[in-house]
Amino acid sequence: MRLIENPTDLLCAELRRCAFVPTMGALHEGHASLVRSAAATGRPVVVSIFVNPTQFSPNEDYGRYPRTLEADCALLKPLGTAAVFVPSVEAIYPQGLECAAVDAAKFPLPPVATEPKLEDACRPGHFGGVALVVDRLFELLAPATAHFGEKDFQQLRLIEEMTAANPVRAAMVEIKRGATIREADGLAMSSRNRYLTLVARDAALALSRALEAAMRAQSVAIGETLMREILHENGLVCEYAVIRDARTLMPVHDFALPCRALIAAQIGSTRLIDNCLITQRG
Ligand code: PAF
Repeated sequence: MRLIENPTDLLCAELRRCAFVPTMGALHEGHASLVRSAAATGRPVVVSIFVNPTQFSPNEDYGRYPRTLEADCALLKPLGTAAVFVPSVEAIYPQGLECAAVDAAKFPLPPVATEPKLEDACRPGHFGGVALVVDRLFELLAPATAHFGEKDFQQLRLIEEMTAANPVRAAMVEIKRGATIREADGLAMSSRNRYLTLVARDAALALSRALEAAMRAQSVAIGETLMREILHENGLVCEYAVIRDARTLMPVHDFALPCRALIAAQIGSTRLIDNCLITQRG
């Protein structure tokens, strides 16, 4: 497994048309499952580890985001990863971070990243930074497939839409979805789970319980109310708990399928998100 810092080293023949897994590190079983799907394509697997400053706002956790390169490499090596790309901020944003922030702010985003008023409203500027870095990484790696987890569902839909909107890109790279991987008790795996104390981790189970309640609900309104109640009862601060059209992420008035239930909630200073497909009512 090669560790690559310099983008020009990505241009070697053995990494051409790779299966790409972009990450910010602090890897867990959710990432491992994306790497396994990437390996199943039969292509060389490249994993990037880059904590992208342009997708964090000043009050967020960029500074304290876990950086665990040694453990990440130990997880990736046995999965058959061909290369780990660990660029510097300068390699990704050669014009400097101020320019990058301007580019992120004006990155043309599809409606799914601006209209639903979910992550787009709670984390203004976030998706501009995500779109910018993914665009840059795609440019550098020219992957054949790129693998993203469903846990960040609005992000996944953004990447699907921005790729589809660019015919050259769409012909080059196939965006592959990876199912959310959960702990045995239902907690969705997330790099940010490591911020949780034991008590907070227990309370965080309210997210997956709320989603289960939404799946059993008889109507959108009941499902949304139940989710908010479960979060509240467990001491979480709900940012949103909604049932939306699974493609556009816009509100649904009837319980038309396919839908997604999506949640963002705060436990102390930790913000967690989760979602699930609603396949049946009641
Ligand atoms: O989901 C993530 O880890 C990040 O948002 C991504 C896609 C690697 C871009 O920095």
